[in-house]
Amino acid sequence: MDPATSPARYFAPDLFAGKTALVTGGRSGIGYAIAEALLRLGARVCICSRKPEPLAAAAAALREYGTCVQRPCDIRDSGEVEVLADFIADEFGQLDLLVNNAGGQFPGLAENLSDNGWNAVISTNLNGTFYVSRIMAKRFFLPQSGGNIVNIIVNMLRGFPGMAHTGAARAGVENLTKSLAQEWAHHNVRINCVAPGTILSSGLDTYAEPVRQLLDSMEEDNLMGRHGTVEEVAAAVLYLAGPMSSYTSGTTLYVDGMDHLHGDRMRLVRGART
Ligand code: ADE
Repeated sequence: MDPATSPARYFAPDLFAGKTALVTGGRSGIGYAIAEALLRLGARVCICSRKPEPLAAAAAALREYGTCVQRPCDIRDSGEVEVLADFIADEFGQLDLLVNNAGGQFPGLAENLSDNGWNAVISTNLNGTFYVSRIMAKRFFLPQSGGNIVNIIVNMLRGFPGMAHTGAARAGVENLTKSLAQEWAHHNVRINCVAPGTILSSGLDTYAEPVRQLLDSMEEDNLMGRHGTVEEVAAAVLYLAGPMSSYTSGTTLYVDGMDHLHGDRMRLVRGART
């Protein structure tokens, strides 16, 4: 990423010196931008995702900015997440920040979602986030009496018609955030969510062309007249992960140009019906 556009330039260069971070789904898109920004500010970073080869390539590219290690892991399998925790303990001996960014969904009318499709999205976004949070908290944050979790969800305040499964899963993560923030407050662990709107990232490439066109067309509704950038999402993560937000936990920060307040939520559904 061009240093001129990196959100790291707004923060003290040693903000995360001596800190370690895990960014799930850190090999591309928003996760990659978060990992890069943390590295630029001095953190040592572990990224994970399912496929070893693209993960290794991303970690190699990220090493330009600092100490970055990678470990393939399917977050839907708590046994694999335990092995990931072993790996981080061996590599870093500590973990200070967890960014639960890994997730995924696909468009579809609710009546057409199969059991498998529904379960896959709930399993990755909700179960996976819980497994990684519980396992990293028990292994690192609670014994250390300190830690920070940032959950990347999505703007689903007014529902998510056209992707009901991800709306339900992300709403679950948002509520989980409120519970864990209270349960773990006395362990000095803060937990917050970042809720992006439509972000120009490689994540958009996973959708078929007609869906991409629909997502592009949502720009017209946005009160800022544009989609967001991965750097804008990463900047919000840096704020919540750092000491500037020390009295903030259990909250959601929207990075969506106000889409949670305003705009047509039914374009995907109308597109699927025609
Ligand atoms: N990214 C998307 N799905 C994932 C999964 N199940 N595990 C890790 N990273 C992912």
